[in-house]
This record gives sequence, C-alpha cells and structure tokens, in this order.
Amino acid sequence: MKKITIAIDGFSSTGKSTVAKELAKALSYIYVDTGAMYRAVTWYAITNGFISDKKFDKEGLIKMLDDIDLKFKFDEALGYAAIYLNGKNIEDKIRTMEVSKLVSPIAEISEIRSKLVAMQKEMGKDKGVVMDGRDIGTVVFPDAELKLFMTASAEKRATRRYKELLDKGHKVTFEEVLENVEKRDYIDSHREDSPLVQADDAIYFDNSNLGLENQFERILSLAKRRIAEV
Ligand code: DC
Repeated sequence: MKKITIAIDGFSSTGKSTVAKELAKALSYIYVDTGAMYRAVTWYAITNGFISDKKFDKEGLIKMLDDIDLKFKFDEALGYAAIYLNGKNIEDKIRTMEVSKLVSPIAEISEIRSKLVAMQKEMGKDKGVVMDGRDIGTVVFPDAELKLFMTASAEKRATRRYKELLDKGHKVTFEEVLENVEKRDYIDSHREDSPLVQADDAIYFDNSNLGLENQFERILSLAKRRIAEV
C-alpha cells in the first residue's frame, strides 16, 4: 500500500492534534506535532533569558539557533512522541500558559521558521506522516495528498483549552485562555512569514458544533480514499 502525506492546519485548540494522533495510529503513520517544536524553542528562549513578558532579545536568540537541538522520541505511556530539547524531555514544560503567551512572537521569526521547516521536511520525506500546524499544507508539504483545515469558534476552543489546563492542575482563568486564543489567532494569521491561511486544496472543517469522534470517522474515510487513489 502506498503511503501519503497528511497535512492538518488550523487555529489553536481546534482538535487538530487529537485527530492527527488518532489518524496516525489508525494508519500506522508517524505523527508530528509542529506546534511542539515552536513551543520548545520558546521554552529554550524563556529558560535562557531571551524572552519574558517584559523583554525580547530576538537577535540574541537567533545567534543561538545552532545550540537548539530538537528531537522527538516515542513515549509508550503518552502513545505519541515526546519532544526533547538538547537531550531533555520537555513535554510537560511546553503546554503551559507561560509558553502559550510567548510562542507567537517566536514563531514570527523567519530564521526560526526555516530551521524548523527544514526539520519537518526531513521527518516527512518518506511520506506516511500526519503533521499538524499552521503552514503544513501551504509551506512544508504543498504537495500533500490530503490537506485539512480545521477551525471552531474562539469560545469553543478556549473552553476546550481551559478544561485541559484545569485537568492538568494549572491555575488559569477562562478569560485569560480566551484572550490568548484570540491573540494567537491574530498573530498567527497576520505574520509576514508563512501566515496561517487555508491552502486552496484543503478540506475545511468547522467543528464548533460537531463531536470530535464524528469528525474523525469522516477524516479517516477521506484518508483511506486518498490512499487508495495514489
Ligand atoms: O499548535 P500549537 O497551539 O501548539 O502551536 C503553538 C504556536 O506555534 C502557534 O500559536 C503558532 C506556532 N506554530 C506555527 O507558527 N507554525 C506551525 N507549523 C505550528 C505552530
């Protein structure tokens, strides 16, 4: 059976990663969470003093890019690959509000984007990959055989993210999460380099009023159809 490339783009907290993980599992494909890579660089920038809510030493960070080594290693307990920064598993450090608040300015930097895009292309070069992010169907794999663009209302997405953070024991308010979702939507879709836009050939899914299981069945059958066609 021939393998294809599946690109899933869309706004934050639209259930992209849930669908991508399940799809990868069902098809025995590799799942790559590119948001985790931008979050990992953000974590590096925070812990090395390049960025905080008060300052941003962009040039200093760019100079250190060669010092940032990112790897994914499959984690049995998680059921997907955890991200490692310079040999250290930082999976539980990157999903915090602190990182969510600072990731968009980091993801605007072209030098960072080109480093991460090159890694993403390498990870998907043999196909058989489900990759989720903002620019996968437009920049990373413009020739992907299946492209999905996912969205949902900002309130619905903030509600999902708020519940996730509370379940993990983070102290946040709903208003703070909603503000972050809306701010990131704006920056991600207005930045100069690789803004979040729907690829012309992407299939649009608005899951504001749709259960994620229903949606998954539809997406899995779309993927199987594309695989049979290639
Ligand atoms: O998918 P996520 O919410 O974990 O992504 C975190 C941030 O990373 C998001 O606000 C924008 C950025 N990002 C990006 O610019 N390009 C990607 N391919 C993936 C994420």
